[in-house]
Amino acid sequence: MRNQADMIVGLQWGDEGKGKIVDHMAQTHDVVCRFAGGHNAGHTIVVDGKVYALHLIPSGVLNPDAINIIGNGVVLSPENLIDKELKQFSSLKGKLFISDKAHLLLPYHAQIDQAKERLRKKAIGTTGKGIGPAYADKISRVGHRVGELQNPEKLAQRILNHFDDNKVLLELMEIKRPQEDELIDLLTHYKDELDCYITDTTKLLWELLNENKRVLLEGAQGTMLDIDHGTYPYVTSSNTISAGACSGLGLNPKDIGKVTGIAKAYCTRVGNGPFPTEDFGEDGKKMADVGKEFGTTTGRARRCGWFDAVAARYACRLNGCDQIALMKLDVLDGFDEVKICVKYEFEGEQIDYVPYDLEGVKPIYKSFKGWKSVKGIKEYDKLPDEAKAYIKTIEELTQTRVGVISTSPDRKDTIVLK
Ligand code: GDP
Ligand code: IMO
Ligand code: MG
Repeated sequence: MRNQADMIVGLQWGDEGKGKIVDHMAQTHDVVCRFAGGHNAGHTIVVDGKVYALHLIPSGVLNPDAINIIGNGVVLSPENLIDKELKQFSSLKGKLFISDKAHLLLPYHAQIDQAKERLRKKAIGTTGKGIGPAYADKISRVGHRVGELQNPEKLAQRILNHFDDNKVLLELMEIKRPQEDELIDLLTHYKDELDCYITDTTKLLWELLNENKRVLLEGAQGTMLDIDHGTYPYVTSSNTISAGACSGLGLNPKDIGKVTGIAKAYCTRVGNGPFPTEDFGEDGKKMADVGKEFGTTTGRARRCGWFDAVAARYACRLNGCDQIALMKLDVLDGFDEVKICVKYEFEGEQIDYVPYDLEGVKPIYKSFKGWKSVKGIKEYDKLPDEAKAYIKTIEELTQTRVGVISTSPDRKDTIVLK
């Protein structure tokens, strides 16, 4: 029997702390793979006080022995990768592999994203990075794949044809047709910088699994942002749930092993859209201050609120979670009272599932006595009883065990339960 791949996925609206857990788990894995999303993802990882910001490169990159794969399900911005992320590292040759089937996210995708947001009556609050337009081109079969960088002249011509086919629309959005020579130069630069990483990652991953390498699949965003199962249309444009890993890497369901769902001990959301447990008062403000809830990608303030166990149970079922990693428990330190949303009130009724539309849904809370401090605690037995009771309730309500507890941003401050 071949090894199966372990997976981590976000259970809420993104920014749950996936980067920290992937980095932590990467210490015991040989391969880390991204399967969906693009540089809308932002992961902050702290190792011995040093802070790393990652967007496209898998969070396994801080394990010097791990191989990192960017799968075909990702939309890849060469500009962001070359100018921002790769600069943080010396050389990742032989450590990073990019699928030739991943779709290119080019500067005009970001321009379209931003123009559409400006023109919308109700903006989605996207990251403005071009994610939606890049996926739209892929699904409309007019996208361009990373493998096409092999021939910059031919790719340039295809891009210019695309501009000509959509002339009226693009001019309306004030998006300029690139100059042919400048475009060829830019694509040649992308090719020169990225050629050494581009390969058939599906074949590579199959070979690695056949060799019984330990593989970790790294989800981006979160379940409530999934294009099908999230709070549509206030979602991202990919399948963020565990099922997305199969299509996004070329795996089959039998290749998937243990699934760890990442959830904060409270909830945050950045961008617009329904958020039943959002707290507009002092509590939400305190979570934002103590949790430093500002986006890694856009710097926007994240909306904060209490743990939503209804949404978390839904997310655990959708992803097939074997366990939850409960993050940022320390952010709730010092609250007199902490709350968990146990049900929703919807159209005058109490429900315990996520309905078609979360707009107008009201949370029903259970309150708990708060605790003094869990910050930096590394052993479960040292947690205060109140924190243990809070964790136990999350396990009961989500019908999923909490197997990892995080008590600070640092890699070391992590409780792993046997
Ligand atoms: P991701 O997108 O899911 O990888 O999460 P982000 O990196 O965008 O956001 C999580 C933030 O919380 C980062 O700044 C982390 O350094 C930080 N963080 C992760 N775990 C903990 C924790 O247990 N306690 C505290 N205080 N911060 C944490
Ligand atoms: P990580 O991987 C939090 C949100 C945006 C917006 C919506 C659509 O760091 O958890 P998009 O640019 O994807 O079209 O925006 O999705 N969003 C995220 N929110 N964390 C993320 O990634 C996100 N990626 C997208 O804020 O509401
Ligand atoms: Mg993030």
